Amino acid sequence: MTEQPYDQFGGAEFFSSLVAAFYARVATDPILRPMYPDDLPAAQRRLELFLAQYWGGPQTYSDERGHPRLRLRHNPFTIDSAARDRWLALMHEALSEQDLSPELESQLWTYLVGAAFAMQNVPDDPYGIPAEGPR
Ligand code: HEM
Repeated sequence: MTEQPYDQFGGAEFFSSLVAAFYARVATDPILRPMYPDDLPAAQRRLELFLAQYWGGPQTYSDERGHPRLRLRHNPFTIDSAARDRWLALMHEALSEQDLSPELESQLWTYLVGAAFAMQNVPDDPYGIPAEGPR
Protein backbone atom coordinates (compact mmCIF):
# COMPACT_ATOMS: atom_id res chain seq x y z
CA MET A 1 0.00 0.00 0.00
CA THR A 2 1.32 3.44 -0.82
CA GLU A 3 2.02 5.65 2.16
CA GLN A 4 -0.76 8.09 2.91
CA PRO A 5 -0.02 11.78 3.58
CA TYR A 6 -1.37 10.95 7.06
CA ASP A 7 1.73 8.82 7.72
CA GLN A 8 4.11 11.36 6.20
CA PHE A 9 2.71 14.04 8.51
CA GLY A 10 3.36 11.77 11.47
CA GLY A 11 0.05 9.99 11.97
CA ALA A 12 -2.28 10.43 14.93
CA GLU A 13 0.40 12.08 17.03
CA PHE A 14 0.85 14.91 14.54
CA PHE A 15 -2.85 15.70 14.14
CA SER A 16 -3.34 15.58 17.88
CA SER A 17 -0.46 17.98 18.45
CA LEU A 18 -1.54 20.42 15.72
CA VAL A 19 -5.16 20.57 16.81
CA ALA A 20 -4.25 20.82 20.52
CA ALA A 21 -2.04 23.83 19.73
CA PHE A 22 -4.91 25.38 17.74
CA TYR A 23 -7.57 24.84 20.43
CA ALA A 24 -5.28 26.14 23.18
CA ARG A 25 -5.50 29.43 21.30
CA VAL A 26 -9.22 29.23 20.56
CA ALA A 27 -9.78 28.84 24.32
CA THR A 28 -8.83 32.47 24.95
CA ASP A 29 -9.69 34.07 21.64
CA PRO A 30 -12.27 36.87 21.88
CA ILE A 31 -13.71 36.32 18.39
CA LEU A 32 -13.70 32.53 18.22
CA ARG A 33 -14.24 31.32 21.79
CA PRO A 34 -17.87 32.52 22.02
CA MET A 35 -18.77 30.54 18.88
CA TYR A 36 -17.51 27.23 20.28
CA PRO A 37 -19.33 24.98 22.75
CA ASP A 38 -18.49 24.78 26.46
CA ASP A 39 -17.04 21.34 25.87
CA LEU A 40 -13.97 22.47 23.96
CA PRO A 41 -12.11 19.12 24.24
CA ALA A 42 -14.99 17.43 22.39
CA ALA A 43 -14.75 19.99 19.58
CA GLN A 44 -10.98 19.55 19.53
CA ARG A 45 -11.42 15.82 19.03
CA ARG A 46 -13.84 16.33 16.12
CA LEU A 47 -11.40 18.52 14.20
CA GLU A 48 -8.52 16.19 14.96
CA LEU A 49 -10.40 13.14 13.68
CA PHE A 50 -11.66 15.01 10.64
CA LEU A 51 -8.20 16.16 9.55
CA ALA A 52 -6.69 12.72 10.18
CA GLN A 53 -9.38 11.15 8.02
CA TYR A 54 -9.08 13.78 5.29
CA TRP A 55 -5.37 13.05 4.90
CA GLY A 56 -5.82 9.30 4.66
CA GLY A 57 -5.91 8.19 8.28
CA PRO A 58 -8.59 6.12 10.04
CA GLN A 59 -12.26 6.80 9.19
CA THR A 60 -13.18 7.37 12.83
CA TYR A 61 -14.62 10.82 12.10
CA SER A 62 -17.21 9.44 9.68
CA ASP A 63 -17.93 6.45 11.91
CA GLU A 64 -18.87 8.85 14.68
CA ARG A 65 -20.26 11.85 12.80
CA GLY A 66 -21.34 10.57 9.38
CA HIS A 67 -20.61 12.51 6.20
CA PRO A 68 -18.58 15.64 7.05
CA ARG A 69 -20.88 18.18 5.25
CA LEU A 70 -18.61 20.82 6.66
CA ARG A 71 -20.18 23.85 5.05
CA LEU A 72 -23.60 22.79 6.35
CA ARG A 73 -22.24 22.10 9.84
CA HIS A 74 -20.83 25.64 9.94
CA ASN A 75 -24.11 27.30 9.00
CA PRO A 76 -25.15 27.95 12.62
CA PHE A 77 -22.06 30.15 13.08
CA THR A 78 -21.54 33.62 11.72
CA ILE A 79 -18.31 33.25 9.80
CA ASP A 80 -17.32 36.59 8.30
CA SER A 81 -13.88 37.43 6.96
CA ALA A 82 -12.70 38.48 10.46
CA ALA A 83 -13.65 35.08 11.94
CA ARG A 84 -12.12 33.29 8.96
CA ASP A 85 -8.87 35.24 9.23
CA ARG A 86 -8.65 34.69 12.98
CA TRP A 87 -9.21 30.95 12.52
CA LEU A 88 -6.41 30.91 9.96
CA ALA A 89 -4.10 33.04 12.10
CA LEU A 90 -4.45 30.66 15.07
CA MET A 91 -4.02 27.65 12.82
CA HIS A 92 -0.92 29.21 11.28
CA GLU A 93 0.61 29.67 14.72
CA ALA A 94 -0.28 26.09 15.65
CA LEU A 95 1.21 24.79 12.41
CA SER A 96 4.44 26.72 12.85
CA GLU A 97 4.99 24.95 16.19
CA GLN A 98 4.98 21.55 14.49
CA ASP A 99 7.98 19.89 12.99
CA LEU A 100 6.97 19.43 9.35
CA SER A 101 9.09 19.62 6.23
CA PRO A 102 8.46 22.82 4.23
CA GLU A 103 6.77 20.73 1.50
CA LEU A 104 4.28 19.09 3.87
CA GLU A 105 3.68 22.33 5.71
CA SER A 106 2.84 24.14 2.52
CA GLN A 107 0.59 21.30 1.31
CA LEU A 108 -1.40 21.37 4.54
CA TRP A 109 -1.52 25.17 4.71
CA THR A 110 -2.79 25.49 1.13
CA TYR A 111 -5.61 23.09 1.98
CA LEU A 112 -6.50 24.91 5.21
CA VAL A 113 -6.63 28.31 3.52
CA GLY A 114 -8.93 26.99 0.79
CA ALA A 115 -11.16 25.25 3.32
CA ALA A 116 -11.37 28.32 5.57
CA PHE A 117 -12.38 30.58 2.67
CA ALA A 118 -15.03 28.01 1.66
CA MET A 119 -16.42 28.08 5.23
CA GLN A 120 -17.04 31.84 5.23
CA ASN A 121 -20.82 32.24 5.18
CA VAL A 122 -21.22 35.98 5.66
CA PRO A 123 -19.85 37.74 2.58
CA ASP A 124 -17.84 40.93 2.65
CA ASP A 125 -19.60 43.87 1.07
CA PRO A 126 -17.00 45.64 -1.06
CA TYR A 127 -19.18 48.77 -1.24
CA GLY A 128 -19.75 49.11 2.49
CA ILE A 129 -23.52 49.53 2.15
CA PRO A 130 -25.14 48.80 5.55
CA ALA A 131 -26.67 45.33 5.76
CA GLU A 132 -30.23 46.69 6.09
CA GLY A 133 -29.79 48.27 2.66
CA PRO A 134 -30.57 51.75 1.32
CA ARG A 135 -33.61 53.59 2.62
C1 HEM B 1 -13.23 29.72 8.74
C2 HEM B 1 -13.27 29.75 10.06
C3 HEM B 1 -13.92 28.66 10.90
C4 HEM B 1 -14.66 28.87 12.02
C5 HEM B 1 -14.98 30.22 12.64
C6 HEM B 1 -15.09 27.57 12.49
C7 HEM B 1 -15.88 27.37 13.61
C8 HEM B 1 -16.35 26.16 14.02
C9 HEM B 1 -17.21 25.97 15.16
C10 HEM B 1 -17.73 27.08 16.07
C11 HEM B 1 -17.46 24.64 15.25
C12 HEM B 1 -18.31 23.92 16.31
C13 HEM B 1 -17.39 23.20 17.26
C14 HEM B 1 -17.83 21.77 17.49
O1 HEM B 1 -18.80 21.57 18.22
O2 HEM B 1 -17.21 20.84 16.92
C15 HEM B 1 -16.76 23.99 14.18
C16 HEM B 1 -16.77 22.64 13.94
C17 HEM B 1 -15.98 22.02 13.02
N1 HEM B 1 -15.13 22.62 12.14
FE1 HEM B 1 -14.89 24.58 11.91
N2 HEM B 1 -14.59 26.59 11.68
C18 HEM B 1 -13.86 27.21 10.69
C19 HEM B 1 -13.15 26.58 9.69
C20 HEM B 1 -13.00 25.21 9.58
C21 HEM B 1 -12.15 24.56 8.61
C22 HEM B 1 -11.29 25.29 7.59
C23 HEM B 1 -12.27 23.23 8.82
C24 HEM B 1 -11.63 22.08 8.10
C25 HEM B 1 -10.50 22.14 7.47
C26 HEM B 1 -13.19 23.04 9.92
C27 HEM B 1 -13.57 21.83 10.43
C28 HEM B 1 -14.49 21.64 11.42
C29 HEM B 1 -14.96 20.33 11.86
C30 HEM B 1 -14.52 18.98 11.32
C31 HEM B 1 -15.90 20.57 12.85
C32 HEM B 1 -16.73 19.52 13.60
C33 HEM B 1 -17.97 19.19 12.75
C34 HEM B 1 -18.88 18.18 13.43
O3 HEM B 1 -18.59 16.98 13.32
O4 HEM B 1 -19.84 18.59 14.05
N3 HEM B 1 -13.61 24.26 10.36
N4 HEM B 1 -16.10 24.94 13.45
